[in-house]
Amino acid sequence: DVKSFQLQSFLPLPYEEVLAPRLKRAHEKLQSGSGAGGEFTGWVHLPRDYDREEFARIQAAASRIRANSQALVVIGIGGSYLGARGVIDCLRSPNYNLKRKDTPNIYFVGNGLSSDAMGEVLDLVADVDFSVNVISKSGTTTEPAVAFRFFRAALEKKYGREGARERIYATTDKARGALKSLADSEGWETFVVPDDVGGRYSVLTAVGLLPIAVAGVDITALMQGAAEMMETCTEASFRCPAWRYAAIRYELYRAGRSIELLACYDPAFRFMAEWWKQLFGESEGKEGKGLFPASVEFTADLHSMGQYIQEGKRLMFETVVRLGPSDRQLTVPADEADGDGLNFLAGKSLDFIRDRAMEGTLLAHTEGGVPNLIVETSGRTPADLGQLIYFFEYACGLSGYLLDVNPFDQPGVEAYKKNMFALLGKPGYEDRRAQLESKLEG
Ligand code: PA5
Repeated sequence: DVKSFQLQSFLPLPYEEVLAPRLKRAHEKLQSGSGAGGEFTGWVHLPRDYDREEFARIQAAASRIRANSQALVVIGIGGSYLGARGVIDCLRSPNYNLKRKDTPNIYFVGNGLSSDAMGEVLDLVADVDFSVNVISKSGTTTEPAVAFRFFRAALEKKYGREGARERIYATTDKARGALKSLADSEGWETFVVPDDVGGRYSVLTAVGLLPIAVAGVDITALMQGAAEMMETCTEASFRCPAWRYAAIRYELYRAGRSIELLACYDPAFRFMAEWWKQLFGESEGKEGKGLFPASVEFTADLHSMGQYIQEGKRLMFETVVRLGPSDRQLTVPADEADGDGLNFLAGKSLDFIRDRAMEGTLLAHTEGGVPNLIVETSGRTPADLGQLIYFFEYACGLSGYLLDVNPFDQPGVEAYKKNMFALLGKPGYEDRRAQLESKLEG
């Protein structure tokens, strides 16, 4: 559900009536794929129309990896990384690798160019049985391609070329790209990133599903949750929570807010917030438009960013994600001496204390001039997360069309790549290289 708190002090109401026709048009574009970037709206009906045969292969590959590997190395960046990490952290734990469990450790690499970070994972898998899932829709992204060279070599050294073949899973385009050609010539098992699903909308394809299933998450329930929200979102009205969220954030943007802070009181949500930042940042941030998506973790950040939020420049609004009740209910122990004066909390659950912190923060921030939206899930199961993922995706598509941008392209991410290729001496970039080097020399 999506709620707002005392919004009338920030927005001229009612905005629903004015926005409804525009939202309806945005909705129709998403449903029919007739808007800008419509060729990338395959995710809209994916929870209903996904490839069942491939889904069964994902489950089978996950069982095989769980049976023969103590670790899975997941190689990917951006949309080929954040969703899987977000879901695994949220549903299994941010301390997943440290937990006692009967599923493999999962290491994410190829999402940067740090030698130390990659070297550490090479060391961590040196003495264990491991498999690799290399994920790249284009099959040509530099960071994962470089990482894959290292981990493929490590696998081949340990198991030989034949043995490594059984341990490499490539998730990529069905026909194009260097990774697909390599996979075909080497005989690795492949999974498909559908043509009509862009990277940041791909968590519910093999991109996210294989690592998530290896971690022991029920991916059938995840898809069912997404399908439920998909059904809810077929309704073209403000009863759809994505409509309410898209409308309010758009009106706040028009009223001068330029930053949306996604806040959550669960550290397990950290990488879901990273996924959300990519989803909205890459979808909306173009043509000089768009809210800047940022995230905070409460209550930790109330002791750092809290000062700015309460009293700094009035730039932002807050969207607070409230997950359903914690799995474990810890209560504060009583202490006869009460030296710390905390006996007034004895017997109270941490959830109860957190809820009071949440309410106190909501009141304080609203009073301080920061509008607050609340996105609530009823629980924290795979189905709840599936619903939340689809809700954000749908709201993001609607938001892009309200802003009048193409929510499915990312022309801006090419600029750094071209410079990097030129500076690295990639064939074909010679002219640019000379220009850039002279600029760097100043
Ligand atoms: O959303 C996107 O399209 C990007 O973040 C991509 O997912 C990212 O650049 C990785 O691309 P690829 O999967 O082609 O390696």
